[in-house]
Amino acid sequence: MEGSLSSVFNRALLVLLLHVLMTCIVHQGYTYGVEGKIASHTVPVSSLLPSPNCSTSTTKYSNRKSILKVVHRHGPCSPLVRDHNPLNVTEILLRDQSRVKWIRSQSSNSSYGLKASVAASLPAKPDITDGEYVVTIGLGTPKKDLTLLFDTGSSITWTQCKPCMGSCYNQSDPIFNPSQSSSYANISCSSTFCALAGSGCFGSTCKYSITYGDNSSSVGFFATEKLTISPTEVIDNFKFGCDENISGNFGTAAGLIGLSDKNISFVEQTAAKYGKYFSYCMPSSASSTGHLTFGKDGRALSSVRFTPLSKIQQHSEFYGITILGISVNGVPLSIPSTVSSSAGAIIDSGTTITQLPPTVYSALRTAFRKAMVNYTTAPAVSTFDTCYDFSKESTVTVPSIKFSFAGGVDIDLDRSGILYMVTASQFCLAFAANSADSDVVVYGNAQQRTFEVAYDVAGRKLGFAPNGCS
Ligand SMILES: *[C@@H]1O[C@H](CO)[C@@H](O)[C@H](O)[C@H]1NC(C)=O
Ligand SMILES: *[C@@H]1O[C@H](CO)[C@@H](O)[C@H](O)[C@H]1NC(C)=O
Ligand SMILES: *[C@@H]1O[C@H](CO)[C@@H](O)[C@H](O)[C@H]1NC(C)=O
Ligand SMILES: *[C@@H]1O[C@H](CO)[C@@H](O)[C@H](O)[C@H]1NC(C)=O
Ligand SMILES: *[C@@H]1O[C@H](CO)[C@@H](O)[C@H](O)[C@H]1NC(C)=O
Ligand SMILES: *[C@@H]1O[C@H](CO)[C@@H](O)[C@H](O)[C@H]1NC(C)=O
Ligand SMILES: *[C@@H]1O[C@H](CO)[C@@H](O)[C@H](O)[C@H]1NC(C)=O
Ligand SMILES: *[C@@H]1O[C@H](CO)[C@@H](O)[C@H](O)[C@H]1NC(C)=O
Ligand SMILES: *[C@@H]1O[C@H](CO)[C@@H](O)[C@H](O)[C@H]1NC(C)=O
Repeated sequence: MEGSLSSVFNRALLVLLLHVLMTCIVHQGYTYGVEGKIASHTVPVSSLLPSPNCSTSTTKYSNRKSILKVVHRHGPCSPLVRDHNPLNVTEILLRDQSRVKWIRSQSSNSSYGLKASVAASLPAKPDITDGEYVVTIGLGTPKKDLTLLFDTGSSITWTQCKPCMGSCYNQSDPIFNPSQSSSYANISCSSTFCALAGSGCFGSTCKYSITYGDNSSSVGFFATEKLTISPTEVIDNFKFGCDENISGNFGTAAGLIGLSDKNISFVEQTAAKYGKYFSYCMPSSASSTGHLTFGKDGRALSSVRFTPLSKIQQHSEFYGITILGISVNGVPLSIPSTVSSSAGAIIDSGTTITQLPPTVYSALRTAFRKAMVNYTTAPAVSTFDTCYDFSKESTVTVPSIKFSFAGGVDIDLDRSGILYMVTASQFCLAFAANSADSDVVVYGNAQQRTFEVAYDVAGRKLGFAPNGCS
């Protein structure tokens, strides 16, 4: 009797302990409460400075068949040698502004009219509107390597083509010459696919035309080609734009891969092969490499946490997400309802800095400044208004910033998504405010760095897993 009583007691104790433990796990991120208990990032200041050399470390993914190396186009890992000079931060923030205006116009149901007026109000001639990360793919037979930007906000994949009837810019790779490829074919103007490319014909040949937010444009033949991702991963009859007349600044990249959700995008064209699933990791700095992977191939999916993907509006080609909250050092910001504005939120590969509603940005900045109160401040630059000079420090303790997405997904940002280096003595809080609380929230690539970001487009969900690049 005594034995069974004590075993009941023990079991009760165990249940109680388990309950306490589960409560702690379930409420992780919300009830850390006690400031300082959460892992803020203490790092040597020297580690915040970028290395002049490229270091590659993606051996973890050598089992993936359809994987491309992702590099920052302005860094030492980039094959675009003439783009190595980094943009200055003013230029990056200007580019973000024009990108976000473009997104806003695209998300609207009257995109064409808006597009023109948005473009007309741009502050300055911006740099390219479509991102800073590039991958190298092969096109044609024999295969020619082309280094392309990748963009989750674009649908048509294009590259510059000879003979460049209009104008071409100087790209790093030789310009693709369709007449020297045995697998190239024009798409006929009467093809049903031609309607998707959307702008008419050159004689009997389908014409495509894209206009970006800063009035840069790409016009040419809509065609099919063999696309080579790796020796074993080849896509026949891939529909792409063979550009004959470009305007705008795309650096020295050869063009762009469109990873949006529209039916002529890479994702839709390869749906049978890759199940509308892709993932990428953007590296923590321009001195290391990440990846872009198609399909679920070779991934230990257990560490990926998924939040629902939504469409902001019927015609939007962007990936919509729901951001529920932000915590600084484990303390949730006191902001009304969700972070997502009435216009919703999207995740974008081509915007650098996350654009928050002004009231949310302001609450984040207040909490961040409080945690950084003991550091020397540095001058503001452009829209970065919370900057620090660490040149007298040997280490720096950066508060943790956690984003909570719908579906119970909490992610603790990498340090590279919290502080943005402007100069060696000027590190700034890496967020920006939209002009109004009603503007669409854009979750940018700085805050995605080092995560494996998985787009399960067929399953309508978006996943995050930490340590995606290493
Ligand atoms: C970068 O590479 C050069 C040449 O290999 C080497 O001399 C230098 O020490 C490296 N710098 C760093 C910071 O690793
Ligand atoms: C950064 O770029 C802006 C805009 O192009 C320019 O006005 C400014 O002088 C540049 N700053 C530096 C430090 O190069
Ligand atoms: C466009 O959007 C507005 C507001 O979101 C809505 O009231 C209107 O009905 C929409 N128009 C069309 C044609 O979808
Ligand atoms: C973009 O094109 C429109 C219409 O052609 C023009 O009114 C506007 O000034 C242009 N904007 C820029 C930034 O070039
Ligand atoms: C190329 O596009 C520009 C506008 O971006 C236009 O003025 C020019 O006529 C075009 N050239 C050809 C050959 O179509
Ligand atoms: C493009 O490259 C050619 C040859 O390398 C050079 O002559 C030309 O000036 C370059 N154009 C620009 C705009 O850089
Ligand atoms: C594709 O169409 C263009 C315009 O009609 C033509 O000049 C070109 O020769 C065609 N290419 C092929 C391979 O049919
Ligand atoms: C493209 O998408 C539209 C609208 O979603 C659909 O009506 C059409 O059938 C699709 N076309 C193809 C070729 O998949
Ligand atoms: C700032 O320094 C003071 C004095 O050393 C210390 O008491 C305080 O906790 C520090 N504040 C933060 C946010 O680290």
